[in-house]
Amino acid sequence: MSQFFIKGGLPLEGEVKIQGAKNAVLPILAGALLNQGKSIIHNVPELRDVNTMISILESIGCKIKKEGKTLIVDSSSIHTNEVPEKLVREMRSSIILLGAILATHKQAKFSYPGGCDIGLRPIDLHLKSLRELGAEVKESHGYIYCKSSILKGCQIQLDYPSVGATENIMLAASLAQGLTIIRNAAKEPEICDLQNFINKMGGQVKGAGTNTVIINGVSKLQDVEYKIMPDRIAAGTFATAAVISGGKLTLKDVNIEHISSVVSKLQEGGSKIARYNNSLTIESPKVLKAVETIRTLPYPGFPTDMQAQMMALMTIAQGTSIITETIFENRFKHASQLIRMGANIKVDGRVAVIKGVEKLYGAHVSAMDLRGGAALTLAGLAAEGETIVDNIYHVDRGYEYFEKSLQELGASIIRIE
Ligand code: UD1
Repeated sequence: MSQFFIKGGLPLEGEVKIQGAKNAVLPILAGALLNQGKSIIHNVPELRDVNTMISILESIGCKIKKEGKTLIVDSSSIHTNEVPEKLVREMRSSIILLGAILATHKQAKFSYPGGCDIGLRPIDLHLKSLRELGAEVKESHGYIYCKSSILKGCQIQLDYPSVGATENIMLAASLAQGLTIIRNAAKEPEICDLQNFINKMGGQVKGAGTNTVIINGVSKLQDVEYKIMPDRIAAGTFATAAVISGGKLTLKDVNIEHISSVVSKLQEGGSKIARYNNSLTIESPKVLKAVETIRTLPYPGFPTDMQAQMMALMTIAQGTSIITETIFENRFKHASQLIRMGANIKVDGRVAVIKGVEKLYGAHVSAMDLRGGAALTLAGLAAEGETIVDNIYHVDRGYEYFEKSLQELGASIIRIE
């Protein structure tokens, strides 16, 4: 298993170009099934999750060409609607293929998806919504069987603004008969990217970014060319890396509005921020202050995908910070690893209390999930001495050339295979 070997204590300096968004490209790749034709997708990040999605699409008959950061997907020759179990287990987001396969091929067979072990992560909202659109959904022996001769637009009230369920409904409803209205929809920027992609194919979706998304089903979608939005979580992670290392970074190609909740917490901690068009410069403060409370919330609240990185930062801030994780019930696994590095953290259920210490010390730690792995890497940049982070395959799921980017910014970090 690969590891990062980090010598801490070097401030990051320079410019970093932010990758295309993982959480946008995955549903958009599912959307590439809808036109049963050609999709040219630009700014695709080089990630393990993207490669898993490519393997899934190829396994059902898509032809995919990669030219640098562009993927050309031809979905005209799909020969099966059964997605291989091994690949589905690797990545939870594979569930968003369900709506697209059902819309185009009337049947789908899936095993229950895998992904980061950060909570129960049920898919009840996805399945309930597909049933409301007219699909027959059976769950048996760990498999989901879906069938529908016709999908019909309807009104769907989500019990929770689930990102994946909102996307799944948008994909299925784009080719359904009539109007679908999703109420209490997720408002994440990636939902807007999916709406823009579907509309560029000739679809009729509006309302993304608000809590009501309206989809007018069409009978056919066309070939499309599209550029993926910047990754707001990668941007937040690099901004936090600048601060934790005591450095100064300029992030290029960011949508600053998308990371305003993270930026405002970094400012509360004393960091200086300068914005210019789609770039942002962040400079760490002389004395890093604790951020009293952080509560993860659906967008535009503070993202759960930045909780671990922010916790790593707060371990060396002056004062006490309280982080409440409201989205996932088991997303504090990085805390025990940060404690190995000298952090003072108490976790009680969904609340973590972090008392800032003067220093972290290098240690041998393990990434338990994607963002937790990124947080431990950031902690290693700040720690005195040498840190080894195990299981970095988790980090490879979401960060493109992570250690190479950090090296270019002045960090001492290498990958050991
Ligand atoms: C997406 C993101 C992930 C992010 C999360 C929350 C992708 C590929 N992943 O995940 O990085 O952390 O949003 O911002 O975009 N839930 C149910 N039933 C369901 C679906 C969800 O109870 O059918 C619950 C989940 O267990 C969780 C909460 O709703 O507690 C949020 O999940 P959801 O918004 O669906 O997250 P994902 O789409 O899986």
